[in-house]
Amino acid sequence: MNEVLKTIKSRRSVRHYSPEQISQESLDLIIEAGTYAPSAHNQQSWHFTIIQNPSLLQHINETVRVRMAQSEVEWIRKMGSNPSFQVTYNAPTLVIVSGKSDSIAWSADCAAAIQNMLLAAESLDIGSVWLGLVRFYFEEEQNRKELEIPDGYEPYYGVSFGYKVKGKEPVAPKRKPDVVNYIR
Ligand SMILES: Cc1cc2nc3c(=O)[nH]c(=O)nc-3n(C[C@H](O)[C@H](O)[C@H](O)COP(=O)(O)O)c2cc1C
Repeated sequence: MNEVLKTIKSRRSVRHYSPEQISQESLDLIIEAGTYAPSAHNQQSWHFTIIQNPSLLQHINETVRVRMAQSEVEWIRKMGSNPSFQVTYNAPTLVIVSGKSDSIAWSADCAAAIQNMLLAAESLDIGSVWLGLVRFYFEEEQNRKELEIPDGYEPYYGVSFGYKVKGKEPVAPKRKPDVVNYIR
């Protein structure tokens, strides 16, 4: 199997991180990989906010947990009611990906950028996890402002990055069979 296919298959959502910060060189490569994703009409409608400030990360984790605990959706409420739940899993780097909301397909552009970043991270032996639940943080206008997301951009998803903890590597969830049909 070639290296690209190996990386695609070995990437997992990592939920245990070492507190050590990832290197700036690796982070630059990961973000650059994000910017090389395809985008509709080549609009490159993404923006990346890199958060490495421990007290802001803690604030995000606490805010999200409290908001999740008030959710009308049972599984989200249950997760938020666990006092040790941390939406970022205590990773030392959180990247918020925002999309330019007047672009043709900003959510698809951002998703493509995120997947590129996850694969780039795996190729560097850095753990990552795509975070939809971080969106609870953006419900408050003030929180968006503090992140200095450019005007016209919508914060979409987060991604945690950090070194993996040995012995806590996740196993791939079983892939669904029967998801392909041919018309020839
Ligand atoms: C749009 C999207 C949102 C996700 N949000 C979260 C999240 O908030 N928290 C989390 O732990 N995992 C999240 N995940 C990761 C999935 O749970 C994970 O990809 C899935 O269980 C398959 O595991 P794998 O990534 O190891 O293949 C998200 C994935 C996607 C694509």
